[in-house]
Formats: sequence, C-alpha cells, structure tokens
Amino acid sequence: MRIVLLGPQGAGKGTQAQRLASQTGALHISTGELVREEIASGSRLGVIVKEYNDQGYLVPDEIIIGMVTSHLEPHSHWILDGFPRNVPQAEALSVMLSRAGSGLDAVIALEAPDSVVIERLAGRRHSLATGKIYHVSNNPAPASDPGPFIQRDDDLPAMIQRRLDLYHRETEPVKSYYAAAHLLVEIDACQPMDAVTAAILAARPAGGLTARGTASIGHVAR
Ligand code: AP5
Repeated sequence: MRIVLLGPQGAGKGTQAQRLASQTGALHISTGELVREEIASGSRLGVIVKEYNDQGYLVPDEIIIGMVTSHLEPHSHWILDGFPRNVPQAEALSVMLSRAGSGLDAVIALEAPDSVVIERLAGRRHSLATGKIYHVSNNPAPASDPGPFIQRDDDLPAMIQRRLDLYHRETEPVKSYYAAAHLLVEIDACQPMDAVTAAILAARPAGGLTARGTASIGHVAR
C-alpha cells in the first residue's frame, strides 16, 4: 500500500491513517507529527518549524520535503498523511518515487465542509500515552487509554480559520494534479469512521499501481 491522504484540517486524515496502519501493517507517516516531534526535541530545526506550526502556516517546502524523503526511502508500504500540501510538494514526491522506480496506488481526498471540520477540531484531543486521536463527543477516549489528553496549540479558533484558508488556496489544487494522473478518489468524510475506512480500502483509481493487479488498494493484514 502506497497512498496519500488529502483533505482539510479535521477531515480525519490522522484518524484514518492510524486505522489503516493498524489494519494493513503499512507505515503511517504524518508530516504534522514529524514537525511536532522536531519541535519537542528542542533542535535548531525544531525552533525554526515551531514558528510556522504555531501560527498555522506551512513549513517551507525544502524543510518538509527533506523530512519526508528520509522517512519514505527505507519503506515500501506507507500512508502519507499531510503531504503533499501544495503542487510543488506533489511534484517533489513524483520525482522521489520515480527515482525509486516506484509509484502511488491512490490519492484519497477526504471531503468535508468547513462547518464540520471546525467542530471536529474544536473537540479534538490527543493522548500523550498512546498517540491516539479522540474527540470529546464523537470519539471519546476508552477507559483503557490513561491519557493525559491534550489539545493542540494550533486548534484554537483563529489558527483553525487560517489553516483552512491555506488548505483551500494551496492544497485543493493538488487534487487536480492527481486527478490528471487518474489517481484521485474522493470520499465523503462526513460518514461514520468505519464507513470511511471501508471506502478507502475499497478504492480503486484508474491509474494506480494496484489497479493493474488486485481489486482494491488495501486489505486487512492477517
Ligand atoms: P497536521 O498535523 O498535518 O495538521 P492538519 O493538516 O491541520 O490536519 P489535522 O491533523 O488538523 O486533521 P486530520 O485530517 O488529521 O483530522 P483528525 O484525524 O485529527 O499539520 C500541522 C502543521 O504542520 C501544519 O499547520 C504545518 O505548519 C505543518 N505541516 C504539516 N505538513 C506539512 C506540509 N506538507 N508542508 C508544510 N507544512 C506542513 O480528526 C479531527 C477530529 O475529528 C478528531 O477529533 C477525530 O476524532 C474526529 N473525527 C475524525 N473522523 C471523524 C468522523 N468520520 N466522524 C466524526 N468525527 C471524526
């Protein structure tokens, strides 16, 4: 499985990537998580990317492309969550994959209106113990997760609006890039989480690598 998850902030990319990774064994690569880990490490790079992350801006392409390259190269099965975020990043990914003699199975666009994602982001919580993503009412943490549960700094109302504006301006054109390559599959992300996961696993884009061989992009690992 080599897929890209696109979609506005709060559409459920991280939630679905965690589910797909645990069901299929593919590696979940979240550029947002890579950025937050770099910040938490206190490195020089972390100090630089914190400025962008905390203000709801995109980290410069050369930094994020470098992070993705080093994480992608050693692995053959992955789910990319949060990358590419603009057309230059999509072009860089194409170059990376063609150098490796590889390609994408599908690009999944999770579709949800701003009104839905704003409510989701406002109620989102992360477990520091397990890294799992929850929502105070849609998807509360189970008793087995000890927490603590934190709210992201960029999930404050002013930051949410800025990130959504950036999504519409910079990331939505990425859909046309992949539609032209016959890799794009649009999925209604307002459905319940299980239905979204099933729709992703059943996706079969015309131009994907597995479209030439198997019936769908994914299966549950035994
Ligand atoms: P990142 O961490 O990628 O944040 P994001 O794109 O803003 O995406 P989110 O994590 O907010 O949303 P999601 O779609 O994953 O939703 P989730 O599954 O959590 O990026 C953070 C920052 O890093 C960026 O602002 C930027 O600075 C930098 N960065 C990252 N990548 C970059 C790049 N490529 N280039 C440059 N800079 C980059 O779900 C949200 C909530 O909804 C949860 O509470 C969940 O429980 C709930 N939920 C999910 N699905 C459903 C459902 N079906 N029904 C009901 N509730 C649901």
